[in-house]
Amino acid sequence: MRIGVLTGGGDCPGLNAVIRAVVRKGVASYGHEFVGFRDGWKGPLEGLSRPLGIAEVRGILPRGGTILGSSRTNPFKIENGVERIKENLAAQGVDALIAIGGEDTLGVATKLHELGVNVIGVPKTIDNDLGATDYTFGFDTAVNIAMEAIDRLHTTAESHHRTLVVEVMGRHAGWIALHAGLAGGANVILLPERNFDVEQVAGYVEKRFQHQYAPIVVVAEGAQPLEGQMVLQNQELDAFGHVRLGGIGQWLAEQLEAKTGKEARTVVLGHIQRGGTPTAFDRVLATRLGLQAIDAAHEGDWGKMVAMQSTDIVRVPLAEATRELKTVPLERYAEAEVFFGS
Ligand code: F6P
Repeated sequence: MRIGVLTGGGDCPGLNAVIRAVVRKGVASYGHEFVGFRDGWKGPLEGLSRPLGIAEVRGILPRGGTILGSSRTNPFKIENGVERIKENLAAQGVDALIAIGGEDTLGVATKLHELGVNVIGVPKTIDNDLGATDYTFGFDTAVNIAMEAIDRLHTTAESHHRTLVVEVMGRHAGWIALHAGLAGGANVILLPERNFDVEQVAGYVEKRFQHQYAPIVVVAEGAQPLEGQMVLQNQELDAFGHVRLGGIGQWLAEQLEAKTGKEARTVVLGHIQRGGTPTAFDRVLATRLGLQAIDAAHEGDWGKMVAMQSTDIVRVPLAEATRELKTVPLERYAEAEVFFGS
């Protein structure tokens, strides 16, 4: 078979490890050939490809980003998008696609499968918010980056008796905030799943100062105050209809400073959370998902997404995996709340 591989949506550490595993096993065990499509769905849409063999995947296991490039192109928003993809696949003699992506990229994969394209999906996102898989690679790396930042901020916050608000990624799901906040011993953690009361947050911060210990507040970019609107950087939507977030941390620091009388500063971790080398956990997970994806393709088990369930790598229907986002259950949040303000 000749199989196209693409990576779509926000990049994350571990994408290259998947590509490497797919190609290494595909060539060595099954004798398949590969084509690398560039920049997500833009690649097959515009016929943009590059060679992808064993030589091209040497040395990429520890490299962050994606050698194939990525974009948020949505072929369903482009005239004749699906027909163009089908034509380009046929022109390049490509029998099937392995699409590595999050909810948007795999949403496209789901629809293309229904329209007769042979597709296997591999879940990725630092947000860990895809259904049907317990973990996505990239998440562990992002959490460790955020945790290390929190550790460092503790010592400087302490020296200056300041509140430090750390804004982490997480549009609709607060997994990064929850895990990094728990691991880093945050004073308060705020998630998109539950609107927060700024007065209560100020109370936690005051209490922490009473213990002579400077508070670190971890806030997910999608968290919102009780009666407020989500704080937006600009109102432009991408091809999948998402707004660009950012700004809640700054707003919150201003509020906390005004309410507590103690200086409050903001650190926005932003894309630092998505860059650089993957952790060992993410490298292993990405590799195992890649191996299962090429097995599924070899068997012609189309329309499946590979997933981690418990410690096993399994296959689930793409449609099931993209049905709904996996958000933080409130009982998980309650575990973190035990430590707030104390
Ligand atoms: O979905 C991954 C993610 O990093 C989100 O946490 C974040 O909201 C978004 O992508 C940012 O996307 P972009 O890099 O396109 O601004």
